[in-house]
Amino acid sequence: MAVTKKLYGTLPDGREVYSYILDNGNGLSVAVINYGGIVTNIYVKDKDGNTRDVVLGRASLEEYLKNDGYIGAAIGRHANRIAGGKFTLSGKEYNVGINENGNSLHGGVAGFDQKLWYVTEIEDENAVVLTYTSEDGEEGFPGKLVTAMKYSVTDDNAFRIDYRAVCDKETVCNLTNHSYFNLNGHESGSIYDQTLSINSGFYTPNDAEGMPTGEVLSVEGTPFDFRAAKPIGRDINADHEQLKLFGGYDHNYAINGRGFRFAAEARSEESGIAMSVYTDQPGMQLYTSNGLPEGVKKGDKEYKPHDAFCLETQVFPNAMAHSHYPSPILGKGRTYRHVTEYRFEVL
Ligand code: BGC
Repeated sequence: MAVTKKLYGTLPDGREVYSYILDNGNGLSVAVINYGGIVTNIYVKDKDGNTRDVVLGRASLEEYLKNDGYIGAAIGRHANRIAGGKFTLSGKEYNVGINENGNSLHGGVAGFDQKLWYVTEIEDENAVVLTYTSEDGEEGFPGKLVTAMKYSVTDDNAFRIDYRAVCDKETVCNLTNHSYFNLNGHESGSIYDQTLSINSGFYTPNDAEGMPTGEVLSVEGTPFDFRAAKPIGRDINADHEQLKLFGGYDHNYAINGRGFRFAAEARSEESGIAMSVYTDQPGMQLYTSNGLPEGVKKGDKEYKPHDAFCLETQVFPNAMAHSHYPSPILGKGRTYRHVTEYRFEVL
């Protein structure tokens, strides 16, 4: 049990970035940096008792400053896309940072993935709390939003993120983490043989820009059906318009049920590592790293598309445009709460 802190690098403006290693003393340790709230490493034991690092990453702060691909990063104020970067809240139109095809992605031009977070260590809980205050109007979003994310490792091998945010005006808030998982280890190549099950019978199809159309479709009889576990690669290259558009899965699932519940489980027979995701969020983006930028590596080997999968727990993308989606609106003075756990197990 420990939280270890060490200098990780220095930002161009001289501010220091630290790495915090949370170790549960039972085979799980997670390293995070306070730049972008980035999860740089998740070390777990495989079936032979060897340690594997199951998230993709970059080799240094200089590399993370490329801000491409949101590798391991905290995402805010609004995960995924907002069409045209526009939404109307209590009759007033807001225009937020545009950074992809005229749309806003993952919080705009400089989202939470590019902020230096203030860290408080909670030694006896194997936790760190990262806080960041986003000023009124940052990236065009209304209100001063104070955000806290508690990253912890539990005795039973879960990496848990507790998100809280409060705003002094009505606003929108949709936070997530953008870790790229590979249960054979970050440098082990394709995830096609790793199996996935998702607690969902419905997904939201996208237009060509990756924007949900408003439809919520049954997965029945489609490559999107992960109700029973299947290898991620089984249908990823199927002749289905929604997969062809994005070169793989890049879709939001409506997770069954409410409250904190099971959302997904991934397993690798090869390593014997299983990871299940629990969340209280209505949606989860399955993204199979289709557009992974070139040249990303933490060790010697550059990653390729489909070397990882992301399971981003969230409110549905572009929900302000679709009133039948769960709402990302956060009332003035109300508390945004979100808990997601990634639980690791040896098969
Ligand atoms: C989005 C992808 C995007 C990726 C960026 C995912 O959450 O759904 O469309 O390319 O993030 O890394």
